[in-house]
Amino acid sequence: MSIKVSFRNIQKTVTLGLLLGALGLVFVPTTASAKPFNLGPGKCKECHKAEFEVWEKTKHATSYKKVHKSKAAKKIVKAVGGKRMKKTALCMSCHYTQTVKKAGAKPKLAAGVSCESCHGSASEWITIHNNYGKGKTVKTEDDAHKAERIKSATAAGMIWPSALYDIAVNCNSCHGFSKQALTGANISAMMDAKHPINPDFEIVAYSQGTVRHRFYPPKVTENQVMSTVDMSRLYVIGQAATLVSATENISKSDHAVYKAAQEKRIATATAVLKSVQSLAPEVGAFLATPTTVNGRAFAAAIAAKDLSSAVSGRLPSKFK
Ligand code: HEC
Ligand code: HEC
Ligand code: HEC
Ligand code: HEC
Repeated sequence: MSIKVSFRNIQKTVTLGLLLGALGLVFVPTTASAKPFNLGPGKCKECHKAEFEVWEKTKHATSYKKVHKSKAAKKIVKAVGGKRMKKTALCMSCHYTQTVKKAGAKPKLAAGVSCESCHGSASEWITIHNNYGKGKTVKTEDDAHKAERIKSATAAGMIWPSALYDIAVNCNSCHGFSKQALTGANISAMMDAKHPINPDFEIVAYSQGTVRHRFYPPKVTENQVMSTVDMSRLYVIGQAATLVSATENISKSDHAVYKAAQEKRIATATAVLKSVQSLAPEVGAFLATPTTVNGRAFAAAIAAKDLSSAVSGRLPSKFK
């Protein structure tokens, strides 16, 4: 599935356009092959006011005006050979949202980590994700149409809240250092300059505090608290995504701090996953081969299971 969209992809589109232009070729981006780009949180606010009001108070949003000014940030930018955090592609890939007015236009910094950092760049799915069909409403849309809507928005880059494994993979791309732009050299430079890496990032603790926005029907005015059963499942799925992230990325750098963090992530995730073995024997195949494909299959296998008797004792009591 092609869900991850980054500044680098947009850069590539722009460069290709310029290149073809320079060669005298006509570059006509088609919807099907267009690289998705961000529309910015202001666009989402038009219909998702409640979610926006939660988001704007989170560190993801507020750090936009602050983090680049700190001494720590300046030291880290310098270490990777950049001048300003807000102009350094590596930093932007995890700290900021860049928007584009229309395909091929110059990207502009618009916010910190925002809606599309987590739900996917929306240019290609925005008009699909809320379309119930001609003359239909949320109540009258038929199941087949809904399934198709979810499928096509996903294909266009949307990460649905129900796709828990993919949501967790996406958090890890930043919090677990899985971004493709990371290399042995820039990881080492960042670690030496004391960029934090937090091996204890865990999706329940980090998504059910300040980040929580759960205005699901029928109680659409209430930011709902997640049940213990749902939390237990999310906790386990989060650890599955963490295991894949850490296993795939640990060899990227030998820096002691980085290695120790990735080792700790692997150890914690493995212990949690082993603890659900009797309730979810499917975990065996996943632990034997922890890949994204197997992680998604494992998440699907436990979609209707109650794992709380195995993991409720491990659930966080405090949320970030
Ligand atoms: C024109 C109005 C509109 C805009 C603009 C809009 N949305 Fe939506 N969105 C909706 C509606 C209506 C739904 C409910 C669809 C459904 O029933 O699943 C929805 C559903 C969603 C869902 C899934 C909710 C669920 O329960 O699974 C997410 C996530 C989402 N929108 C994110 C966004 C983001 C991010 C943006 C900005 C890039 C955005 N939306 C812009 C109207 C909008
Ligand atoms: C792989 C994603 C990623 C990249 C790339 C990245 N950061 Fe970060 N950064 C994070 C995350 C995640 C945190 C929060 C860590 C935590 O506290 O759990 C963070 C935290 C920070 C902090 C501490 C913020 C605070 O509020 O204390 C600074 C400063 C910082 N980053 C600067 C930079 C700079 C400068 C760059 C570019 C050289 C950069 N980061 C690149 C993900 C990234
Ligand atoms: C840090 C990642 C992150 C950011 C930023 C984020 N979301 Fe979400 N969003 C999630 C997760 C995770 C869920 C699933 C929540 C759950 O079920 O507990 C979700 C659920 C949703 C839902 C379905 C629940 C509901 O409230 O109806 C909508 C709609 C939504 N997000 C829209 C948005 C919009 C709009 C923004 C920006 C204003 C945004 N999100 C920002 C991660 C994020
Ligand atoms: C595009 C990269 C990115 C994604 C995706 C992302 N985050 Fe973050 N997150 C950050 C950065 C960077 C910070 C640190 C900001 C700062 O301190 O300046 C942060 C900070 C946080 C904080 C505040 C932590 C604190 O100590 O105050 C929470 C909570 C959080 N993220 C949860 C999540 C969750 C849950 C997800 C997935 C649903 C997620 N994030 C996805 C980049 C990201």
